[in-house]
Amino acid sequence: MAEKSFPAALNEQIANEFAASQQYVGMAVYYDAETLPRLAQFFYRQALEEREHAMMMVQYLLDVGEEVHIPDIKAQETSYSDGVTPVKKALAQEETVGEEIFALFELAREVKDYRAEQFMQWFVKEQVEEVALMGDLLNVVERSKDNLLLAEDYIARETPGEGGGDPTAPPAAGGG
Ligand SMILES: [Fe+2]
Ligand SMILES: [Fe+2]
Repeated sequence: MAEKSFPAALNEQIANEFAASQQYVGMAVYYDAETLPRLAQFFYRQALEEREHAMMMVQYLLDVGEEVHIPDIKAQETSYSDGVTPVKKALAQEETVGEEIFALFELAREVKDYRAEQFMQWFVKEQVEEVALMGDLLNVVERSKDNLLLAEDYIARETPGEGGGDPTAPPAAGGG
């Protein structure tokens, strides 16, 4: 028997996704205060994406008739020693989320919850993209750490993370 039910584990992940969203708002605010508007915008958008992930999980629990827990919010950092650190932390965070997603996928298999396994598949793919996206951005900010305006140019030119809507994405509670 698994230690935890899938709905209980998914509720924990909802808290993780909201926390990631708040952390990215903190990073966006830092870059905004440093007058690095493209980096700020990148993280504001990532914050919305993490919120969307949480809301997809909320919708799933609603759809399968399980209880939903909405977590409390804890304070997040809004200042960093330099402009590379937030991206480093963001990459580490995405890697951690990847592990969490794998654990949820594994749990779904273990308890033979086929709906849950199918639901988690999209998130497996999403984490591959998010880790790659943050890894690319880390390369760029590390290379331009003495002049982050170069990173600003890169973001303006390449628009990383602005892929547009994904028709295979699970529906999110409240639409959006
Ligand atoms: Fe996420
Ligand atoms: Fe993410």
